[in-house]
Amino acid sequence: MVINFYRPVEVFFGKGAVEKTGEVARRYGFKALIVTGKENAKKSGALDKVIRSLNSHGIQEYILYNEVIPNPTDKIVNEGARIAVEEKVDFIIGLGGGSALDTAKAISIVSSNEGSVWDYVKYPEGPRLVPYLSRPVICIPTTAGTGSEVDKYSVITNEIRKEKLVLSHSLNYPKVAIIDPELTITMSPELTAITGFDALTHALESLTNRAENFMAEECSVRAIELISKWLPVAVEEPENYEAREKLAYASMLAGIAIDHLGVALIHAMEHPVSAHYPHVAHGLGLAILAPHITRFNYKGNPEKYALFAKLMGYEERPELAVDAVVDFLERIGLLKTLKDVGVEEGILDRLTEDVYMLARHSFLINPVEPTLDDVRELYQRAYEGKL
Ligand SMILES: [Fe+2]
Repeated sequence: MVINFYRPVEVFFGKGAVEKTGEVARRYGFKALIVTGKENAKKSGALDKVIRSLNSHGIQEYILYNEVIPNPTDKIVNEGARIAVEEKVDFIIGLGGGSALDTAKAISIVSSNEGSVWDYVKYPEGPRLVPYLSRPVICIPTTAGTGSEVDKYSVITNEIRKEKLVLSHSLNYPKVAIIDPELTITMSPELTAITGFDALTHALESLTNRAENFMAEECSVRAIELISKWLPVAVEEPENYEAREKLAYASMLAGIAIDHLGVALIHAMEHPVSAHYPHVAHGLGLAILAPHITRFNYKGNPEKYALFAKLMGYEERPELAVDAVVDFLERIGLLKTLKDVGVEEGILDRLTEDVYMLARHSFLINPVEPTLDDVRELYQRAYEGKL
């Protein structure tokens, strides 16, 4: 077997890495578009740190685009792209959680090519347009979960179509990831748990799906080990720097893993949930679905699920992967049902159709290829919390 391991993103990692921003940014020009949310980066001091670093390296001009929301929409990307073009920015900085990073990367694509972001997302038949150019992007994560700082994906929601799709292209890699674990210390225990579980799901799905790449799988394995040990610590002690550092690192590794191996049915079934219910955070949707889909999947790749169970601290038996997921969710406070978060039972048929219409390519790499009836039943179980 021949594998490929392409890593075009330069990584700065460690305490105080954010101070590198200005020095790195100078390579790309003098005028920045800073893409972030309304509150968090400002309140936590991360935005000040970035601006101070830019200023100290002679970059005085920047436009602050702080319109990013969780589950970011195509409208937000298109508006950001319009500003990037109008203001002739040289480069883009994404500062925040996965939503800010995904938005920054997508703005780079849209502002450098024709059309709008929905032309570039991947329907099963492929995107409508292929990008030819992009602007340099620097990603500075303030959560530990998305992995977007090192991968080629942006997940975007179309509110009118109620669809959540992925823009995936080699031009969508950021140029640089500046990962400063100190920036994640102000996350609440709940956000820590939700984003950390996103990273764990990236590692679990990349390890167990049918794609093969042993180099990338090393990243999944290490990420599982680290998240299993350190996520409960960070949830209980938000200011524990060692835990924050290990999780920032694990999240990056899991991002590298999905960049090469992709995800599987847990992500495929989550996206319709948060597309229809944008108040449901991505990581929470994954947490609700993961026990049921793990139970459905483990027989399709017993060796890898046994390894997952072992890495989570259980005996090396595939069926124990389900216990590992359930117990872990209980420990970090995320053992919930679709009903608990306000999903209506009447929409489960529609969610099932959406998985087929928008994400059926993931059926083939899922450990067990599901039928539509399987997907419908899994939603029902996740709705009721019936394992
Ligand atoms: Fe994810």
